[in-house]
Amino acid sequence: MSTALELRDAVVVVTGGGSGIGAAMARRFAADGAVVVLNDLDPVAAHHVAHEVGGRAFAGDAADPEFVERLVSFAWGSLGRLDLFCANAGVPTAGTETAPAADWDLAWRVNVLAHVHAAKAALPRWLDRGHGRFLVTASAAGLLTMLGSAPYSVTKHAAVGFAEWMRATYAHRGIVVQALCPQGVRTPMLSGTGTLGAALLGRDAIGADEVAERVFAALRTDDFLILPHPEVADYYARRATDPDGWLGAMNRLQQKTEVTA
Ligand SMILES: NC(=O)c1ccc[n+]([C@@H]2O[C@H](COP(=O)([O-])OP(=O)(O)OC[C@H]3O[C@@H](n4cnc5c(N)ncnc54)[C@H](O)[C@@H]3O)[C@@H](O)[C@H]2O)c1
Repeated sequence: MSTALELRDAVVVVTGGGSGIGAAMARRFAADGAVVVLNDLDPVAAHHVAHEVGGRAFAGDAADPEFVERLVSFAWGSLGRLDLFCANAGVPTAGTETAPAADWDLAWRVNVLAHVHAAKAALPRWLDRGHGRFLVTASAAGLLTMLGSAPYSVTKHAAVGFAEWMRATYAHRGIVVQALCPQGVRTPMLSGTGTLGAALLGRDAIGADEVAERVFAALRTDDFLILPHPEVADYYARRATDPDGWLGAMNRLQQKTEVTA
């Protein structure tokens, strides 16, 4: 049964909302009447987007559990409700198994544990009232892999894993959990991935507004996976049914990137 979210007057928190996909979602939700709380590490960016969409800025670190408690309390205390929490902030940590420990740690904190802290803060009131929505911005890298970026691939898999666990655990209690898994999206993060990112993702990259439109539509269907690049569903099915063939194809792609590097 769909529990389509009525955005008019809904209160929505978007972490990492000062840029890219988060800012595009904030604009799309606000266009439909939502009051958006813009979180970002960058206070200037958070205030800028909040001003643009008539929302509220709440700058800080979405991976800090105490801060996230305050963010959720702000929505309930100052705006009276919280209907949708978009755990969107992420870091694009590149590298192999030799990536510095600090990079692995940052990726775990922002790409995974931030979602756990958000769930811990948001769920008690939602479970009491019997409804609430949680959107995790993972990545196609969380269903497949991202060559050149071990910390990113591993932590995005964990982000999808946590979202699956939440959906399986709380669906019957009125909690709708969804995982957004795009491939390349033209944002500052994609630009920062350099020539490898551009080679792997650039050609099929889409705009953040298009992603936001897909999210908006998915708030009506409640589908768990939101795939703005539909071909990701085929790759994901291939990975499940023919893991050796799929990994062989990924390794051939890796070899191609080594030749062109
Ligand atoms: N751009 C892509 O190609 C792509 C593809 C798949 C998934 N994603 C995911 O989409 C999400 C948004 O990325 P984007 O492409 O819009 O990037 P972006 O760089 O445009 O925006 C990310 C924002 O998150 C903020 N941020 C980073 N760490 C934070 C923290 N700890 N607390 C609060 N804010 C923080 C940054 O300041 C930035 O404003 C990320 O989770 C990313 O992994 C991006």
